[in-house]
Amino acid sequence: MTAGTADDMAPRGTTPGPTTADDTVLVTGAGGNTGRLVVAGLTALGVSVRAASRRGTAAPAGAGPELFTSAHFDWHDPRTHTDALDGVDRIYLVPPIGAVEPADVMVPFLRRARESGVRRAVLLSSSAIPEGGPGAGQVHGALAEIFPEWAVLQPSWFMQNFIGGHQHGESIRARDTILTATDKGRVGFVDAADIAAVAVRALIDEPAHNTAHVITGPEALSYDDIAATVARVTGRPVRHDSVSYEQQRDRFAADMPAEFATLLADLDRAIASGVEDRTTRTVETVTGRPPRSFADFAEAHASSFVGDRADRADRAQRDVGPGISPTSR
Ligand SMILES: NC(=O)c1ccc[n+]([C@@H]2O[C@H](COP(=O)([O-])OP(=O)(O)OC[C@H]3O[C@@H](n4cnc5c(N)ncnc54)[C@H](OP(=O)(O)O)[C@@H]3O)[C@@H](O)[C@H]2O)c1
Repeated sequence: MTAGTADDMAPRGTTPGPTTADDTVLVTGAGGNTGRLVVAGLTALGVSVRAASRRGTAAPAGAGPELFTSAHFDWHDPRTHTDALDGVDRIYLVPPIGAVEPADVMVPFLRRARESGVRRAVLLSSSAIPEGGPGAGQVHGALAEIFPEWAVLQPSWFMQNFIGGHQHGESIRARDTILTATDKGRVGFVDAADIAAVAVRALIDEPAHNTAHVITGPEALSYDDIAATVARVTGRPVRHDSVSYEQQRDRFAADMPAEFATLLADLDRAIASGVEDRTTRTVETVTGRPPRSFADFAEAHASSFVGDRADRADRAQRDVGPGISPTSR
């Protein structure tokens, strides 16, 4: 399969997709960074959604039972798959978090989904993962063979990594620090809301996109740039500290399997080499509006960069992992 990007395409129309009352979109990862916004975006357009997750997902404001249902869904438990797929014709796919080989559970599910009548699938992958590459890259490679209508989203790094439960968000709140092995490498950080907006169009546009979309924000920024912006909006001395590849790998390995920790450290090394120093016009081309800047995102989320005092002390203890002695830059 050969995948182009949105940069190759003419601006899209706004033709709504599902056309019958029976059409339902199954949204996996429905409580996550992009999934919950895809649910909200679809229901706001009157598209019926089934929200799939392990922990349950609340309906967006204004979405009644005719537009929103939920399903208990675990990628690793096929017994949860049948009910989730009932009456579904499109799927938004967020891979199981932490799985090194998500294709092992996703591809059998996708074949089953196709047999049960699903005709369109939109996969959340990553700008760092090529078609056929590791992780979601294997699912990317299988998608067009299984479904007549498809799209793969390849976003750059999420702006949401600096708030919430991500390690960078925790480290900012606990120690006013971001630790990476990216050196001065730049990244086209993107707001999850812009990714979700592209996902919604990929799920409902006619004709189907049938392409891969590399999705970035409006500018490529280093982690030094990110720290400076967070420092400006919070008034705190937030900084980016560089660690070595080995230090970053070992730090990740304290919280996850060694193989996955190595994969994440490899991504930092790739950023340092400059491969993520790019921007695309995908968000504007697909949605008709430009992507959000990090400065705008940071101002809107200024309070999320600040933990309370107990939170900061607790997280500081946990963040000072073995073997980490960051070099301030
Ligand atoms: N963060 C980034 O910078 C970035 C950049 C590019 C691509 N990505 C990709 O984006 C994807 C989402 O990452 P995220 O950090 O934003 O996570 P997220 O979507 O906020 O959270 C993951 C979601 O998946 C669900 N989930 C996890 N394991 C599951 C399982 N076994 N079965 C069913 N549902 C499961 C979780 O809900 P429940 O726990 O309720 O099931 C949660 O809603 C990942 O594949 C990541 O590689 C991330």
